[in-house]
Amino acid sequence: MRKKLVVGNWKMHGSRAANAQLLAGLKEAGPWNADVAVCVPFPYIAETALALTGTVIAYGAQDCSSHEQGAYTGEVSSVMLQDIGCRYVIVGHSERRAYHAESDQLVADKAKAALAHGVTPIVCVGETRAEREAGQTEAVVKRQLAAVIHTLGHCTGEMVVAYEPVWAIGTGLTATPAEAQAVHAVLRAQLHAATDRSGAMRILYGGSVKADNAAELFSQPDIDGGLIGGASLKVADFAAICRAAAH
Ligand code: PGA
Repeated sequence: MRKKLVVGNWKMHGSRAANAQLLAGLKEAGPWNADVAVCVPFPYIAETALALTGTVIAYGAQDCSSHEQGAYTGEVSSVMLQDIGCRYVIVGHSERRAYHAESDQLVADKAKAALAHGVTPIVCVGETRAEREAGQTEAVVKRQLAAVIHTLGHCTGEMVVAYEPVWAIGTGLTATPAEAQAVHAVLRAQLHAATDRSGAMRILYGGSVKADNAAELFSQPDIDGGLIGGASLKVADFAAICRAAAH
């Protein structure tokens, strides 16, 4: 049985005051019988680390460079993330693929850099609405995942995968549990062909997960938790989703 994982993706939200309140609320609401983490904007990682000292809530970042160090102005390396205790880093989020033109290969290189420094990459894959309507969902997510598997090789088993249909992110539209499970099964089979650790790997669902739909999504056989955007910014909502994962 895979332990569920719930990860809050704060995106570009927060302030020192708001974060302190949110983290204090989560500390009070937990712990849950699930792994829980928050991926916060870079400037707030250090304070998040302090606030979460002594708790089982992990923390991480929302992106990293594919390079270790050097003349890459504005970038943050996975070496630095490891240095400040990050457990996770999200790579290949659809917002980065869309607004920063990140290719499948760049995403794979970022995942590799993270793993090389002991930070678990949460690799996002997902189709746009147009791709779904054209019947390309499977082909798209398989292409995105294949690049990562090819690049990680024998380390493939150490990543977390997140299926996030682009049309469901921040829109209030959610894939039905059956639609999500169908794609998760495809991803699991692809991982199975690549690593003997596929049975232990976690595949998260993301895209308008809320307190009232989380339990049904998480009850699907290949959905091992969630990557939560909007609902991770409110203590009550995020705590309810963590509780839903704990069953
Ligand atoms: P959402 O975002 O929960 O607000 O849809 C999910 C994500 O982008 O990771």
